[in-house]
Amino acid sequence: MKLPKKVTIKEVGPRDGLQNEPQQVGTENKAAWINRLSESGLSYIEVTSFVHPKWIPQLADAADVLSSIKRKPGITYAALVPNRQGLKRALESNVDEVSVFMSASEAHNKNNINKTIAETLPVLQEVVSEAKAAGKTVRGYLSTVIACPYEGAVPPEQVKKVAAQLFNMGIDELSLGETIGVAVPTEVERLLEVLLPEFAADRLAMHFHDTRGTALANISKSLEMGITTFDSALGGLGGCPYAKGASGNAATEDLLYMLDAMGIETGVRMEGLIEAGELMESILGKPLNSRQMDIYRRVEKE
Ligand code: HMG
Ligand code: MG
Repeated sequence: MKLPKKVTIKEVGPRDGLQNEPQQVGTENKAAWINRLSESGLSYIEVTSFVHPKWIPQLADAADVLSSIKRKPGITYAALVPNRQGLKRALESNVDEVSVFMSASEAHNKNNINKTIAETLPVLQEVVSEAKAAGKTVRGYLSTVIACPYEGAVPPEQVKKVAAQLFNMGIDELSLGETIGVAVPTEVERLLEVLLPEFAADRLAMHFHDTRGTALANISKSLEMGITTFDSALGGLGGCPYAKGASGNAATEDLLYMLDAMGIETGVRMEGLIEAGELMESILGKPLNSRQMDIYRRVEKE
C-alpha cells in the first residue's frame, strides 16, 4: 500500500458538529473549545457558518464566535458562507478562509440551500470572486457525492460535472462530502477513479460522515488513492440538519490514532484532542462518541 508521508486534518467540529447539536452551546463555551482545539496542533479549524440564523439557529452567533476566539498564528480559521450576505458578515469578522457549499444532487441542494443547482452556481460565483478580491482563499464543498438522502445513489459523472463548475469559479480546494454516511470503500474508489484524472489529488479533500461506521475504511481507501486532506470532527460530532439520517463526522481523535499508527505525520497531538474532548463533554453534559474518548474514559476509571 503506497501511503503519503503527511496528511492535513481539517477540524470541522465547531461548525459541522455544533450545527447538528440539539442544545445551544453558548458563545463563550464555543470559544473556549476552539481555543483548546487550537492548542492541539491542528492547522485548520472551521469555526462557524454565516448562514441564515433561522435555518441553523445553533450558529447564529457566528460573528461573536470569531471575535471571541484567540487566534493562534499558523492556524486557518474558516467559516461556511452561502451567499453575498453571508460573505459580508464573514469578511466583517475577518475570517481567514471562506467555504462555499452546494450538493451534487438536486433534491439535497434544494432542501439545504433552497435553490436548484443551476440557480446556486451564479450565487457561489459571486461569493468566490468577492472573497478572492478581498484576499481570502476559498474552499468549496460538494455534498452528496455518493448518495443523496432524497434521490439515492449519485453517479460519479454528476459529481465530476459539478466539481468542474466549482473549480472553474476559482476555488482553491474542493471537499467531497459523503453527507449521510452510507459509502463503502469500493464506492469511494469508483468515485475517485472518475475524479482523479480530472482534478489534482492535492486539491481534493474527503469529508466522511460515519453513520454506518465506514468512515475510517473510506479514508484508508482515499489515502491509498493519493488524497492527503481529510475533514473530521472532534468526538464524532456532526451532521446536516437538512439530510435526514445523517450523523457525525469521522472522529478526529480516531482518525489521528489511525494515521499515527500508520506512521503518517499530521502535527496533531492526541493529548491535545483528548483535552478538547473532555472540555466538550463537560459543556454538552454527555460522553462524546469516539473510540479514543471511550478508551480514555475507561482507562481513567481503572
Ligand atoms: P433563503 O430563505 O432562500 O434566502 O435561504 P433568501 O436569499 O431568499 O433570503 C431570505 C431572507 O434571509 C432575507 O431576509 C435575507 O436577508 C436573509 P428577509 O428579507 O426575509 O428579512 N438571508 C440571510 N440572513 C443572514 N445570513 C445570510 C442570509 N442569506 C439570506 N447568509 C440560505 C437561503 C442559503 C440563506 C438558507 O437556505 C440557509 O441559510 N441554508 C443553510 C443550510 C445549512 O447551513 N446547512 C448545513 C451546512 S451544509 C453541510 O452540513 C454539508 C457539509 O458538511 C458537507 C457534507 O457533509 O456533505 C458542508
Ligand atoms: Mg458534513
